[in-house]
Amino acid sequence: MRFTIAIDGPAAAGKGTISKGVSAHFGFAHLDTGLLYRAVGRRTMDGEGAEAAALALTPEDLDRGDLRTAHVAQAASKVAVIPEVRAALVDFQRNFARRDGGAVLDGRDIGTVICPEAEVKLYVTATPEVRAERRYLELSGKGSDISREQVLADVKERDARDMERAQAPLIPAKDAVLVDTSDLSIEDALATAIAAVQTKLPR
Ligand code: DC
Repeated sequence: MRFTIAIDGPAAAGKGTISKGVSAHFGFAHLDTGLLYRAVGRRTMDGEGAEAAALALTPEDLDRGDLRTAHVAQAASKVAVIPEVRAALVDFQRNFARRDGGAVLDGRDIGTVICPEAEVKLYVTATPEVRAERRYLELSGKGSDISREQVLADVKERDARDMERAQAPLIPAKDAVLVDTSDLSIEDALATAIAAVQTKLPR
């Protein structure tokens, strides 16, 4: 069975948690497409050109342990505005989406550009303040000494860059189901997403 679930939204809205939960619930494969951009951004931090890095990306790049830092997030958001970088990553994402057995992809442009034909599209969002607080707790829990103010500024800066870029900006697909997680627990957000998918599954 081919069945694609596209989950888009801004940083720290809950996409990752929802995507993992939805893929586990339905037994589908999951691709966090942000990792592709993070891996490219990480390679540019070592001095490599962005397009060359995107073309040379290997599975080992995605396994690097240091892709979740705030620095890499900003580098990812910067390389993500480059059309050649985005183009180099399209085929890999589309092939993943059409694999047999169902696929969940989460990112910024999955429902709009990568998989406009996805069977289910979710747009997961929350206010910048709620998202920054979650990211702050996550980063400080990992031992980072970044401040709340800095995390909120980073979230807003990345939102602006991701939403205002010319190519594949972050915007809800017209047929996406909106899931605002600002006032939802993780369990309720996941239940909402699973219910939305359930209605579209072939029976
Ligand atoms: O989801 P994330 O925070 O790991 O994504 C890191 C950056 O990568 C994000 O700020 C923008 C970019 N990105 C993108 O442009 N398109 C995607 N499908 C996924 C991520």
